[in-house]
Amino acid sequence: MRKPTEESLLAAAKGILHKNWTGTFTKPAPSLYPHQWNWDAGFIAIGYAHFDLDKAEAELRHLFRAQWKNGMLPQIVFGQEAGARYFPGPDFWQTDQAAAAPQGVVTSGITMPPVHGFALWRMYEVSADPGRTKAFLREMYPKVLAFHRYLYRHRDPNDEALVYVRHPWEPGTDNSPTWDRPLRRMKVQKDQLPAYQRQDLQNPKAAAHRPTDEDYDRFVFLVDLFRRNRYEEELLDELCPFKVQDPLFNAILAWSNECLIHIGSLLGENVEEPMHWHEHTIHSLNEKLWNEAEGCYDAYDLVAGERLPCRTNSGLMPLIGEVPTQEQAERILKKLESRAFCGQSPDEVYWCPTYDLRAADIDFEKYWRGPVWINMNWLLYQGLLRYDFDEAAERLRNDTLALLERYGFYEYFDPRRHSKTAEGFGTGQFSWSAALYIDLLSR
Ligand code: SER
Repeated sequence: MRKPTEESLLAAAKGILHKNWTGTFTKPAPSLYPHQWNWDAGFIAIGYAHFDLDKAEAELRHLFRAQWKNGMLPQIVFGQEAGARYFPGPDFWQTDQAAAAPQGVVTSGITMPPVHGFALWRMYEVSADPGRTKAFLREMYPKVLAFHRYLYRHRDPNDEALVYVRHPWEPGTDNSPTWDRPLRRMKVQKDQLPAYQRQDLQNPKAAAHRPTDEDYDRFVFLVDLFRRNRYEEELLDELCPFKVQDPLFNAILAWSNECLIHIGSLLGENVEEPMHWHEHTIHSLNEKLWNEAEGCYDAYDLVAGERLPCRTNSGLMPLIGEVPTQEQAERILKKLESRAFCGQSPDEVYWCPTYDLRAADIDFEKYWRGPVWINMNWLLYQGLLRYDFDEAAERLRNDTLALLERYGFYEYFDPRRHSKTAEGFGTGQFSWSAALYIDLLSR
C-alpha cells in the first residue's frame, strides 16, 4: 500500500514528465536544459515505461534518430524551442562540419554514458505489454550494439575493453573532483579561447553551485579543439589532452553489455559480441581500476599515464554490472557504510553524497562535488540489490524517497539531514528525479 504522500508525489512526478514533454522528447528541466540529453533520456524512458509506453519509446527513438554514422550517440540532441537559451548551442558545436554527423538533426559532438542497454531491459521488465516492448527491443537492439561498437572501436586505444571519456560532460559528472587533476594540467590560454557566453548562471541561487569559469574555459577549449578537427576520431584520439577511463562510465557499459546479452538472447540473436565485451570489460575494471587499499574503483588518466584516486561515489558503481567479486563487493559496502559516505553519526546524512565527506574541499551545494543525485542513488541501489545487500539497499531507497518528499523533484540535494536548507538545488521539476521516483516506488 502506498502512503498518501507517495500517491500525491507520484501524481506530481508524472505531471513533471508531462510538463517537460515537448511533443517529440522530454526536456531534463523546463528552462536550464531545453534540449534532449542522452543519459537523461534513458532514465526518463524507465519512468515512462511504468505508465506511458508511447512516450517511453518515443523518447529513445528521438535520441537514436540522432545517432552518428559511426555509431556515436550524442550527448545533446537540439530541439527547436523558440527562445531556448543554452550554451554551447549548435552554432558553437558546428557538428555540420563532421562527416559522421547525421542528416536532418542537430547534435553536440560528444557522447554520454551508455545507459540504453539497461534502460531497455528495465522497460521490458516493467512493461504492461511485454509483446509490444519486445518488438521495440528488436528495433533498438542493433542501434545500441552500434553505439557500444563505436565506444570499443574509438575510445579504447590500448584494447583494454575500458573506454575513455574525452570531455567532463561525457561521464555526465561535469565538475567531479576526479577531473581536477587532468583539467588543471591542460594549458589553456584565455586569449586563444573563442569568445563565449555562459547561459547557466541566470538563476542566482544555482549560479554558485555550477562549475567555475575556469572549468568552463577548459570545457570550451576541448569543444573548440574537437570542432577545429571536424570531429575526426583519429585526430581527436591523437590530440585530446583529456582522456580518462572513468569507473562510472565503464560500470554503466558493463551493465548495459549484460543487458544486451539478455535482449539478444530474448530475440534469438547471436550474442557473442556483447559476451566478449562483457567479459573483457569486467576483467579490466578489476585488473586496472580496482584499488585494493581503498576498497573502491579508481579512474585512470590515459594522457598522463596515472591512476586518479576516485573519492566520489562513481568508484562504488561497478556494483551495478556485478563487476566486483563478493569479497570486493563487501569492501565497497564497507566503504559506503564508513565515514567517507556516512559521516560521524548514523543520522548525519542522506545517502549517498557524491563525494567523500572527509575531503577537505567537499562542498554540499556544488553540483557534482558533494550533493546527492537521484540517478546515482538509483544506480547504486540496483548494485546493492545484486549482491543481496538488502539492508543497505533499503536504506538507500528510503533516503532517496525521503529527500524527494522533503524537497521535491530538484536536480541535486544537500546530503546533510540537519541542514537548514529550505530547497533542493539546481533546477526544479527535474525529469529524471521524477522518472526514477516512479521506478523506485514500484519496487
Ligand atoms: N551538464 C551540462 C550542463 O550543465 C551539460 O551536459 O550544461
